[in-house]
Amino acid sequence: MNFERTIVITGGAGFIGNHVVRLLVNKYPSYRIVNLDALTYAGNLENLRDVEDKPNYYFERANILDKDALERIFVLYQPDGIIHLAAESHVDRSILSPMDFVYTNVIGTVNLLNTAKYFWNNSFENKLFYHISTDEVYGALGETGFFTEETPYAPNSPYSASKASSDHFVRAYGETYHLPVIISNCSNNYGPYHFPEKLIPLFINNIIHKKPLPVYGDGKYTRDWLYVKDHARAIDMIFHKGKIHDTYNIGGFNEWQNIDLVKLLCKMMDEKLGNAAGTSEQLITYVKDRPGHDKRYAIDASKISKELGWEPSVTFEQGLSETIDWYLENTEWLKHVTSGEYQRYYELQYHKRD
Ligand code: NAD
Ligand code: DAU
Repeated sequence: MNFERTIVITGGAGFIGNHVVRLLVNKYPSYRIVNLDALTYAGNLENLRDVEDKPNYYFERANILDKDALERIFVLYQPDGIIHLAAESHVDRSILSPMDFVYTNVIGTVNLLNTAKYFWNNSFENKLFYHISTDEVYGALGETGFFTEETPYAPNSPYSASKASSDHFVRAYGETYHLPVIISNCSNNYGPYHFPEKLIPLFINNIIHKKPLPVYGDGKYTRDWLYVKDHARAIDMIFHKGKIHDTYNIGGFNEWQNIDLVKLLCKMMDEKLGNAAGTSEQLITYVKDRPGHDKRYAIDASKISKELGWEPSVTFEQGLSETIDWYLENTEWLKHVTSGEYQRYYELQYHKRD
């Protein structure tokens, strides 16, 4: 079959990646979509069961640290687009083992940049290296204000420092070698297939199992939440219509203090589970704070809105309700991803913190 384009999506078996893969495979049957993923603890091919038999979907198990594997994949598929999501993505794990983040997020990204540069060999027309990043690179906000594309980088965790470093390398390859690059920086995503180490899916899983809900510090930290399918839509728009060498901020215009979000989640779960009002709130347990915890994130997403016409498509209440329903309908998925390594991590993170 002759394909119009070939896009390699790294990290396609992860949380955001599977939504991007699904959207592009279904929306563009004339594109060949190659999911390149090492299948770490966070990558799961169960996330893509509904697309794995599509004729335009391909999977390659490979680590972005493995230069030979990247070369083999570039020779085999001759991609003209890269959407780079593969990363170590959890702040708490980055505090426990920062080097994993240096290897994958920094060195892995540079490996991928080198491979694209070598294979595209200065023939950059219709090529794009699109790097997916985070608002955490900007550091923390006070009570007011928003992150714009001009906000200086000030990362505070090993995770955000590794993402900031990867962003700098991507930008530098654009400037130095004229590699056609775009970067986007998004706020906190939530939705189906979110690994239950992150706040929302962890708390949904714990409510299902009537386990404590560990709120860090005073719970008054603020995040700007975006439904993952809206992030995938933004990535599609930026990939097709974004300006080369530019950056775009993506956010939900949807700020929540953690404790208010947790209380809303408890209320919605009690309704859906048929519990008496207030049942799940009793599970809230304040625990020792995350070191270097960023107080507040909030994205000014007016540039992508004005230039590309992107807006979030669902309200937080709709997105959260759909998300909870998905977890309640997919308890087997939850059971699979929380067996094995997850138990070891949970013990280390929540029971041996001092
Ligand atoms: P995730 O942890 O759910 O998935 C990461 C994926 O990358 C997994 O499939 C994993 O197997 C793969 N991977 C990890 N190391 C690899 C390696 N060395 N080689 C190849 N594959 C590897 O992450 P996510 O939440 O889906 O985030 C995806 C990207 O989006 C990341 O770059 C992250 O920094 C960024 N981001 C995430 C959020 C969020 O709220 N989750 C928000 C903004 C930006
Ligand atoms: O802002 C984008 C970032 O959002 C992404 O780049 C990261 O990959 C993603 O993990 C996310 O980072 P956060 O650290 O904001 O997400 P997390 O779900 O870990 O935490 C959200 C908030 O909830 C944060 O203030 C810490 C708090 N928290 C988290 C956990 C896991 C708790 O209070 N208790 C918990 O057990």
